[in-house]
Amino acid sequence: MSMRFHWAAIAALVALLLVAGTVTADDDDDDDDGILGDTGKGLGTAAAWGLAFSTTIIIWKPGLKYIRANADKIVEDGLWLKKELGKANRWYLKIHYWVGASAVLVGFIHGVSMNKWEVLFWGGWVGMLFMSVTGSLLLWKWPPRKVKKGARLLHAQRAVLVITIVLLFVSHEFFD
Ligand code: HEM
Repeated sequence: MSMRFHWAAIAALVALLLVAGTVTADDDDDDDDGILGDTGKGLGTAAAWGLAFSTTIIIWKPGLKYIRANADKIVEDGLWLKKELGKANRWYLKIHYWVGASAVLVGFIHGVSMNKWEVLFWGGWVGMLFMSVTGSLLLWKWPPRKVKKGARLLHAQRAVLVITIVLLFVSHEFFD
């Protein structure tokens, strides 16, 4: 197993834990419900699902690459499959951008409505914001080229993503 895949598997696992943790937190009626009550909590769940979806790109990309490389072995008309994969990828990426950016906004409203200001919660949110800002720079091929190259390095590396997910998981599980 390559080091990259190793990180990907850990991140995907923690993302699932995060979603599970947030969903169970929803069931706890004794909690302080914050300004928006259950709606505020629901927004948190939505943001967690959004982050989890955006994170699936670390499985999607190598998966797509593998199928593309073996298209001729999988179906008779390999060219057709490659075209379809290209179409699916364009859709997937659009959802990746919009869901990722929405998760940051929805997560912000959730955080404010919960009226919790501990640094662990907001550290996680800053990590999500970082992913969206670097993702946007990458998407819009922001000149100069150096910035775009840097944005790709920053957006595609796994450390910030893993730290973000760990911060969100730990804060919601243990400090809620
Ligand atoms: C906040 C949640 C987000 C997470 C967790 C996330 C995560 C990632 C990761 C890990 C990759 C690298 C995949 C790889 O090369 O192995 C990636 C690629 C990318 N992301 Fe995001 N991202 C998020 C939001 C965004 C947003 C909001 C945008 C743009 C507005 C964006 C734009 C891109 C682009 C353009 C790529 C390159 C796709 C490609 O190589 O074909 N991302 N993202």
